[in-house]
Order: sequence, then structure tokens, then C-alpha cells
Amino acid sequence: MSGFRDRYGPWALVAGASAGLGEAFARRLAASGLDLVLVSRRQEALDRLAGELRAAHGVQVRTGALDLGGPDLAEAVRALAGGLEVGLLVYNAAHSVIGPFVDRPLEEQLRVLDVNCRGPLVLSHLLGGAMARRGRGGIVLMTSIAGSQGNPLLASYAASKAFNLVLAEGLWAELAGRGVDVVACRAGATDTPGYASSRPGKKVPLMAADEVAGSALAALGRGPSVVPGALNRIAAFAFGRLLPRRASIAIMGRATRRLYGRGGPQGG
Ligand SMILES: NC(=O)c1ccc[n+]([C@@H]2O[C@H](COP(=O)([O-])OP(=O)(O)OC[C@H]3O[C@@H](n4cnc5c(N)ncnc54)[C@H](OP(=O)(O)O)[C@@H]3O)[C@@H](O)[C@H]2O)c1
Repeated sequence: MSGFRDRYGPWALVAGASAGLGEAFARRLAASGLDLVLVSRRQEALDRLAGELRAAHGVQVRTGALDLGGPDLAEAVRALAGGLEVGLLVYNAAHSVIGPFVDRPLEEQLRVLDVNCRGPLVLSHLLGGAMARRGRGGIVLMTSIAGSQGNPLLASYAASKAFNLVLAEGLWAELAGRGVDVVACRAGATDTPGYASSRPGKKVPLMAADEVAGSALAALGRGPSVVPGALNRIAAFAFGRLLPRRASIAIMGRATRRLYGRGGPQGG
């Protein structure tokens, strides 16, 4: 435990920490003795979690309610965490738009870019730069097996997840020589409030958020990406390496339509 803190502490910043996988990351990191900066939009939810983690693990926790898709993200995070030695960034938050691409407002699709692509880019640059100067640290970017290929009804979300995978792979290779471990976590369906609120119309096997967070953190320093869960690893291998690309797209499309209906959750 102290080895993990020495390598990736003393502070970790979890972007998108108030629920689901982000909360699971925060709980695991606090249990490893890291002090935390917790960021998401809902201050109350962050404060509740912060109080619990301080009491349970004796760690320091700072919270900040901010929109990770906002244009002033770098300034906001500097104001919140400037002066702290942040040795680990977990960029977890995501915005997803489910439904036919051209039938959903452009603003929503652009928000996917802001929260899912611009946010991790900004924070990897800001915090990763400081880590590289110190010669140690880690970055976890949450992505998805949906980012292995195009995905009808989730086109912009899947593309944003591909961005995170490729960004993490590049940074993994660049920053390894400067003491910073980077990993993309390619999660499959996971039991979170975000997943439940997407209103899937069919039951699929879900992983527990804590298990996914544990796999991601254990993968730091071991390679550019990790797929948590044996079933997901088989799926990722089939989609990414075994099947022709157009077959992967068709299978993901069929699965998404079965889950959300032909037009997405709103379209039925
Ligand atoms: N759940 C799955 O099945 C699944 C599968 C594959 C990959 N993933 C990936 O795993 C990550 C987490 O998913 P999840 O299901 O745990 O999501 P979630 O339950 O919806 O939680 C997302 C977290 O991010 C915060 N957040 C969202 N938008 C934000 C914004 N604009 N600014 C600041 N904070 C924001 C939310 O808090 P506030 O509402 O308080 O802002 C919440 O703490 C995502 O990157 C997702 O793509 C999830």
C-alpha cells in the first residue's frame, strides 16, 4: 500500500468522482492512503463521499464542483489543486449520447468532445507535465470496449473512447521514459448509476465498479491498456483483432439496438 502511495501519491485527482466508477476509484485510492482531489458537478455528493473517506482512512480530501467540459478547465483545476503534488490522475467522467447521430442536437455531440476528449487532454497535459518534471506519477484514462470500432447509435461516444485509448497509448510510450505510467481502461458494461440511467432494455452481464477500478489501478506500469473481466477480454480480442472491422461494427450495432431499441432509448 505504501509502495503505491510512494509511486503515485501523495495526492490523486479523480475527475468524475461523485458516483459509479469514479467513486469506486476514490474509495480504492483512499484505502491505499492517497490524499484526494475529487471533482464532478455535484458538490453535495462529493462532500458526502469526502467526509466518509476522511473518517474511514484518515486521508485529506479536497472537493471541487466543476464542469469538466468547460472551457476554463485548466484554470479551475489549477485553482483547486495548484500547489498540491498530484501524482495520479484518473480521468473517469464521460458524456454519452445514445441514439441516431443526425437526430440528436449538435450541441450534445460537441459536449461529448468537450467532456470525453478535451477534458482528458487538458488534464493529462496539466498534471502529466508536472509528473514528468518530477519524474514519477500515473494517469488512468477511462475508455470502453465500445471504442474498439465504430458503434451505431453511440457513434460520437465510441469515437471519443477511441480517442482516449489512442491518447493513452501514445502517452504510455512517451512518458514511460520520464517515470509516468499511463494506462487506458477499456471497460465493458459496468454496474453504475450512469449505466442504469441509460435505461438499457435488456439485461446483460455487468461487472462491479470496484472490480473495474481495481483492474485499472493494478494495470498501471504494466502496459498501455487493460480490459477488465475475462468475458470483456474475449469480446475485445474478437472485435479488435479477430473479426473483419465491418463485422465488428455490425455486431456492436446489433447489440446496441437490442439494448436500446432501433432509435435509442428515446426513440424506442
Ligand atoms: N458504466 C459502464 O457500463 C461503462 C462501460 C464502459 C466504459 N465506461 C466508462 O467509465 C467511465 C465512468 O462511467 P460511469 O458509468 O461510472 O459513469 P456515471 O455513473 O455516469 O458517473 C460519471 C461521473 O462523472 C461525473 N461527471 C459526468 N459528467 C461530468 C462533467 N461534465 N463534469 C464533471 N463531472 C462529470 C459524474 O458526476 P456529476 O453528475 O456529479 O457531475 C459522475 O461522478 C466513463 O468514462 C465511461 O465511458 C463505463
